[in-house]
Amino acid sequence: MQENFSLKPYNTFGVDAKAKYFIEVQTLEQLRDAISYSKDHHLQILFLGGGSNILLTKDFDGLAIKLSFKGISEEDLNENEVLVTAKAGENWHEFVMYCLEKNYGGLENLSLIPGNVGTSPMQNIGAYGTEIKDIFVSCTVLDLENLELKTFNLEQCHFGYRDSIFKQEGKGRYVILEVSFKLTRKDHHIKTEYGAIKTELDNSGITHPTIQDVSKAVINIRQSKLPDPKVTGNAGSFFKNPTIPLVQFEELKHQFENIPGYPNGDVVKVPAGWLIEQCGWKGKQIGNAASHKLQALVIINATGNATGKEIFDFSTEIINSVKEKFGIELEREVNIL
Ligand code: EPU
Repeated sequence: MQENFSLKPYNTFGVDAKAKYFIEVQTLEQLRDAISYSKDHHLQILFLGGGSNILLTKDFDGLAIKLSFKGISEEDLNENEVLVTAKAGENWHEFVMYCLEKNYGGLENLSLIPGNVGTSPMQNIGAYGTEIKDIFVSCTVLDLENLELKTFNLEQCHFGYRDSIFKQEGKGRYVILEVSFKLTRKDHHIKTEYGAIKTELDNSGITHPTIQDVSKAVINIRQSKLPDPKVTGNAGSFFKNPTIPLVQFEELKHQFENIPGYPNGDVVKVPAGWLIEQCGWKGKQIGNAASHKLQALVIINATGNATGKEIFDFSTEIINSVKEKFGIELEREVNIL
């Protein structure tokens, strides 16, 4: 266990906040020990996965536990399907690449998402027409109330858009240890409906894409407009895309005729990136924080020296101006600590 430990390498914003204590755990036994230690010493716990969806606005006066369980296992389900289980500490993108090398289909649209496998169910990670709920089977968790293991199946996870039971009633109660996915061996469901994928494949002259082609297209799109956290600190989309009532959308359409929206029954999802750009934030920098010049929805640690507070205040200004111009309240997607 280390003391007064900088979490800068453990959050993709690259914010230099400190944890009073820090420990990295590789086994369930080590995790249980660390939890017991914190209970005995009345320390608060902060669980760290890949650190790709957290903004540390202050030092943490407790025990930060970095989850580094490793391992991937497989079980044949039938001729066409395989159950692949990965431990929480596996890097998400490396896991996706592992599956693609074996020609297992289902994860290709989720290539290059930062973070670890263990946090993927938390917010039902999604991109380019796929969310993990589409291939998720179950996850094993440690229940912090009784230190017992529990399994959540698909239904029990209550997955929604960037949402799950682990962000709602189960918040702070469970530590995800491993996640199982049902993937295809040959009859892959190629998903290219998301506009940018089709364009990317067309540009490469690919008419009958493989899952590997889809993955490459997704990687190209992401690399072309999303900043690499290894180079520029960020946590992907900072806000959720808001959902507004159809009537409100129609009213806005009178005033802003180009406003994009994806209707779903009597509600419409509006791209937050568009709203933020319209308020003049795209590429704008205040102090050390900025909105990314190619994707306004992503807030970056522009100089590498931003504090979490600075990034948080920057996001508040964005929320206020979007609210003022459009009457829409943006919700942060990133967890604030
Ligand atoms: N747009 C702008 N200006 C911008 C950015 C976007 O006008 O600066 C508009 C455009 O009209 C564009 C639309 O927003 O057509 C949608 O943009 P994009 O395809 O980039 O997707 P997004 O809605 O901004 C969501 C996810 C991303 C995910 C992409 C692709 C959320 C909060 N974000 O972004 O997820 O990669 O779709 O599926 O749902 C993440 O969660 O960290 C993340 C990167």
